[in-house]
Amino acid sequence: MGWVHRRRDLGGLIFIDLRDRYGKTQLVVHPERRPDLAAQAHDLHAEWVIEADGVVQARPEGMVKRDLSSGEIEVELTSFSVLNRCLPLPFQLDDAAKASEELRLKYRYLDLRRPEMQETLVLRHRMANVVREHFTAEGFLEIETPFLVKSTPEGARDYLVPSRIFAGQFYALPQSPQIYKQLLMIAGMDRYFQIVRCFRDEDLRSDRQPEFTQVDVEIAFADCDTVFATAERLFEKILRAAWGIEIALPFPRYSYQHVMETYGSDKPDLRFGLPLHNVTEHLRETEFRIISSALEAGGVVIGLCFSGKASLSRKEVSELEDLAKTCDLAGILPLKLTAEGFAGSLVGKVSEDHLRAAAAQLEAQPGDLILLAIGKKSSVLKGMGAFRRKLAEKFQLFRPDLHQNPSLFWVVDFPLFERDEETREIAPSHHPFTGWLREDDHLLAGEPWKVRSTAYDLVMNGSELLSGSIRIHDPQQQAEIFRLLKIPDEEVELRFGFLLEALRYGAPPMGGMAIGFDRTIMALTGGSIRDVIAFPKTNLAQSLMDGCPSTVDPQLLKDLHIAVVPPKV
Ligand code: AMO
Repeated sequence: MGWVHRRRDLGGLIFIDLRDRYGKTQLVVHPERRPDLAAQAHDLHAEWVIEADGVVQARPEGMVKRDLSSGEIEVELTSFSVLNRCLPLPFQLDDAAKASEELRLKYRYLDLRRPEMQETLVLRHRMANVVREHFTAEGFLEIETPFLVKSTPEGARDYLVPSRIFAGQFYALPQSPQIYKQLLMIAGMDRYFQIVRCFRDEDLRSDRQPEFTQVDVEIAFADCDTVFATAERLFEKILRAAWGIEIALPFPRYSYQHVMETYGSDKPDLRFGLPLHNVTEHLRETEFRIISSALEAGGVVIGLCFSGKASLSRKEVSELEDLAKTCDLAGILPLKLTAEGFAGSLVGKVSEDHLRAAAAQLEAQPGDLILLAIGKKSSVLKGMGAFRRKLAEKFQLFRPDLHQNPSLFWVVDFPLFERDEETREIAPSHHPFTGWLREDDHLLAGEPWKVRSTAYDLVMNGSELLSGSIRIHDPQQQAEIFRLLKIPDEEVELRFGFLLEALRYGAPPMGGMAIGFDRTIMALTGGSIRDVIAFPKTNLAQSLMDGCPSTVDPQLLKDLHIAVVPPKV
């Protein structure tokens, strides 16, 4: 039984490719032997569901297809019946790339019939099994936590669920089970994991969905080495099961400051080089207004060396300048280093010695192209980080083939707080339960934005796969963080009072992490996050298939004590 993938009528023979989850099988009808079946088969169309009986036989010599698992056999039909018909397809499954993504999402159940889509779901299932086996073998318990919760701060907006019983009161859907897993540690369940759905109302991108899955983990009495080793052993198994490769453990650890200053990103792709260098000091003495005025305003010059690319034409270099503008850089200054010396607008404006010193820092050789960006440090680093990635894509600096040695590493020593440049207010970089390095205690009161946290991320091929931290388990320290965040006492009591109270009942030290499960599957397959989720939402958080969000029966709203105020246009 299965779906008619294709019917080919060759006059003398009729072939039907029958498809199901396991592949395709060729059915054959000989019209001269079974004119009745031939007439019946003539009416078959793509995606009709049929039940067929026949004799399995070897394909004739020359017809064998070695690349197909069923390529050596065919089934000569003795009878078949149609179990269901199919409307004309909104898009051809063999040619889905030509259909718009909207159409494919609207008819997701058809899109999911495609073998590539099915393979991804099979991989996802296999990886979920690897996760469960790994944590079970290491003594973890999978414990479910509630979906109707008090709001959990993870930096996004909550999805709310109104209470019918308590007018004007709401549950939130969890942004993560963060507080609950900490409470489980306090409850003595010292090793917890859960494959769990999380909900966040935030601006969506190609690697974000409003509901997504985490492998959530917490360990009591853990330091970060314990958490890292657990994650490393898991990723070792995941990559072995998915790709059949062995990876080297432990993964390298880089500080946040190092990756930001060297790659302009807290999740750099290290499959290619192009490190950034701050060459400001070498270019300080110049009459070149663009540089001097930026430096007077406290700016910096960040450069990278594009090796062997001094040969790019003027037009190609100007395309790089356009590319830089798509990375929020005001522009890019090219400086070619050839056997004859430097070439570019900086020549004559900056002394040869200084250019040479800058080139030496960038490790540039004759034949290389130096690209410089000028401006405020944080934005130029960020812009160059994005530029570096786009250069690598444009010039294919790494094999897109994912099976090569993946770049996996930890980023540690994140700042505990982010500071709003305008208001100077601080907010947690991660979540407010994240601990900090004891050696930074003295900075907490005066310069809290300099305090380094005990948070960490795992990055693979430029994607943040997981995030976690060692938590605060001391109620005084937790209260201190809320004070620094200027959350009024009444609000702390209302939102986190139960956690602060629980911390006072003998909370063990604890740490953990949450692995983005969809992101992990994406890293294994490539493609967008929508390709690895059976029923994903669009970038506007809509489900095109069932048409949600949607209006509801007014009586339902009444029961929930809700009146909708339409937005003013
Ligand atoms: P965080 O918010 O960093 O940490 O999330 C952990 C991981 O979840 C994935 N992720 C997402 N994946 C898809 N769509 C989204 N909208 C989305 N948001 C996050 C990322 C990310 O690394 N409670 C903490 C973890 C902890 O401290 O233990 C937390 O949720 O891969």
